[in-house]
Amino acid sequence: MKQTEYGHFSQDGREFIVTNPLLDRPWMNVLSNGRWCYLASQIGGGYSFLDNPTVCRITRWHIDGVPRDTVGKFVYIRDEKTGDWWTANGYPPTRKLDHWECHVGMGYNRIEARQNGIATDLLYFTPMPDAKMSGGSDVGDPCMLWVVKITNTTRATRTVSATNYVELALGNWYEDTSWREFYTLFNRQEYKKGVLYDRTMQWVKYVGGWQPGDSDANNLSFDHAAFMASSAKVAGFEGDRYEFIGSYHDLANPQAMDTGKLRSETALGRDSCLALQHKFTLKPGESAEYVVVLGAIPREAKNADALVRKYGTPAKAHAAFANNQAYWKKVVSAPTIRTPDEDLNNMVNYWFKYQGANLSWWNRNTGYCYFGIYNFGVRDACQDAVSRLSQDPAWVREHIVKRIMIWQFDEGDYAHGGNFVSMQGTRTFHSDDPLNPLFILSHYVRETGDYSILTEKAPWVDPKTCISGKSTKPDATLYEHAIAGVEFFWSQFSKRGLPLILKADWNDALNMAGSGRKGESVMNAGWAIICIEMFYTCMENMKDTKRLAEYKRRIAKLKASVNKLCWDGDWYWRATHDSGWVLGSKKNRGAGMIFANPNSFAIVAGIADAAKTKKILTSFDRYLDTPWGSYCFYPPYPEPERRAGTISRFAPGTKENGSLQGHNSRWRIWAECVAGRGDKAYEIVKKMLPPTRHQADPELYRIEPYVACQFINARESGNPGEGSHSWATGTACWTLLNVWEHMLGVRPETEGLRIDPCLPKAWTKSGMTRTFRGATYEIDIRKKRGICRGKVTLTLDGKPLPSNLVPIPHDEGTHHVVATVE
Ligand code: GLC
Repeated sequence: MKQTEYGHFSQDGREFIVTNPLLDRPWMNVLSNGRWCYLASQIGGGYSFLDNPTVCRITRWHIDGVPRDTVGKFVYIRDEKTGDWWTANGYPPTRKLDHWECHVGMGYNRIEARQNGIATDLLYFTPMPDAKMSGGSDVGDPCMLWVVKITNTTRATRTVSATNYVELALGNWYEDTSWREFYTLFNRQEYKKGVLYDRTMQWVKYVGGWQPGDSDANNLSFDHAAFMASSAKVAGFEGDRYEFIGSYHDLANPQAMDTGKLRSETALGRDSCLALQHKFTLKPGESAEYVVVLGAIPREAKNADALVRKYGTPAKAHAAFANNQAYWKKVVSAPTIRTPDEDLNNMVNYWFKYQGANLSWWNRNTGYCYFGIYNFGVRDACQDAVSRLSQDPAWVREHIVKRIMIWQFDEGDYAHGGNFVSMQGTRTFHSDDPLNPLFILSHYVRETGDYSILTEKAPWVDPKTCISGKSTKPDATLYEHAIAGVEFFWSQFSKRGLPLILKADWNDALNMAGSGRKGESVMNAGWAIICIEMFYTCMENMKDTKRLAEYKRRIAKLKASVNKLCWDGDWYWRATHDSGWVLGSKKNRGAGMIFANPNSFAIVAGIADAAKTKKILTSFDRYLDTPWGSYCFYPPYPEPERRAGTISRFAPGTKENGSLQGHNSRWRIWAECVAGRGDKAYEIVKKMLPPTRHQADPELYRIEPYVACQFINARESGNPGEGSHSWATGTACWTLLNVWEHMLGVRPETEGLRIDPCLPKAWTKSGMTRTFRGATYEIDIRKKRGICRGKVTLTLDGKPLPSNLVPIPHDEGTHHVVATVE
């Protein structure tokens, strides 16, 4: 845990303390309770939304928010005697404060600053559901809290004002961004009993653009009113952004700070902001503390009294914060790992789980890269949810039943993304989408033994309106849904017996290979085998024996076809284009020659035999290894390749075009573990760990050291080692799975916990504490030095077990397992 000039982890690893506000890129935290979400940067920049980032935006973030975030939730402090002012956030303006640091924590950001003897402490967080209750559909209230403490550290009495400021963008983000002067005309404000409210009377709730003449689908007012309330006396307020900022000024230099006065006027049909000003006279050593509640109420509601009563005093805010911390403590509580690598322990025990929980709620809308344009991606949801499985299976169960399985079209394919406000899904025909629910369902039943989930019911999406729940097909059990997905998969095959790629498979950017419905995906053959084979236990449980036998037969045939048709000599192809042109072959020396993912899956799915596995791994080492991580494929496309699509249009070595991609390099790690190469698995994890890259060169890596990113730039990009698209990635959850299940090798199975580690040769001691079916297991792994994998013998509470399986527990106690690997 090395310190850099930008900051360091706290001693216990639970905070990252940023010590320099002016970073190259905003470093984001996701402060959310499952309803309200505040994407917060280290200086209090970022934006908030409620329920859905695209159509239920509350506060604005400008499109030019990167590299410097220019708008957020700021507190302007003004010395009322001298007129000198600054922000307690550290920026704006770009003025170095006497002291500044931001504590990025799980569930909060806390900014400490001091200027001219006035110390400030800003705490941002959302009130969480009751931490004592378990999971399910519980979400927090539709608001966030902003606790401000101001201390006079000088020997003189000081009079300061503190002005809390946010900009609004109520409703549909696209409309606010593309046609602002029109949409601001619908804004109406009200100031009542110290609370400033804002409503908009026009809401584009459904997909935008011109609606058919007979449609009144978007003839709507926005469902919510936004409000800002303060526990301290309001000395003045402002509702008009232009008035706060002033002509030829900006937020680094607002007119309101020149005069020190707010007009105390609401705005009608104007560009709305919410600004509340407070004044404090503080004796030497004295502090003032107040809490601002920023939230939403139903549009028709008369006032926000209920939320203000619940949270609107410092004491109530502190109680809400204690619950917030208890909530997050529980989310990251299990499993915990013990390895010789402190940074790895820290990321796996805290930060990747935290990232996973936020991804499970908001998917790729975490971080700023997608800017809130992304709906709930069903594929990603299926994978991200594993991060919450062992601490809160009830939460995952509800997620599967209510938020994942409802996105299947009544013809068997899945919506690629869904919007929980309009309930509209997008129909794309991605070929992997129908398989992904098998993955999370199988993980769920292995972890819990709860097969009753398979008989829960979920609705279908209607193909005409794309609205979930509107299909005429009656609701079906989750088992029927899952099978409808597999049947859809089997129905989309080429004549020679390979799965069609359709719109794209896992790689969204490989989107032109199959537009003629002929291109094939070798990667998806592997993924299908992994998912369907995992699902066998569910099929057995449902006594669907005939179908199971048929699937086994088809899978054997598919494995044979991949071996017969797609082996290129040293690795497998990636895909074929409609024309028969092959991606991922030695013939393509200049671009797209070898792809990691079909080959990783071929090893994991047991398509590749030992000889082929060896050749693949040798090729991986030769072509994919770099000092900063593992290539997703090599070489990147130097020029656009029409037959591949967007993948080739990104700059070489970035994003899906041959970068060092986090998500799919995790599958290489999985394959490395299956093949027994524990040193290689660890090498890739370690190289691509955010603290590693940050500590090696923070100015090169540029992004957050505490969460995983989508990709690290490869050599071809010109700036190898730079990180990009933080937060919005499956990397975090797959690293958890890799470390828990494949490196430490502790895998929940139907009959118990399997222990089968594959670790670096030098590690002799590691371990994990995890709960399983109600019991807690303290697992110590003692491995002989010099081997990665070996024969595993177990003792359970001192008594030897016959195999490497810890049977299902009979009680809820704590048990001690020693695994000896030699
Ligand atoms: C992003 C998407 C994910 C996709 C991947 C590769 O991570 O969220 O769904 O699989 O990119 O295209």
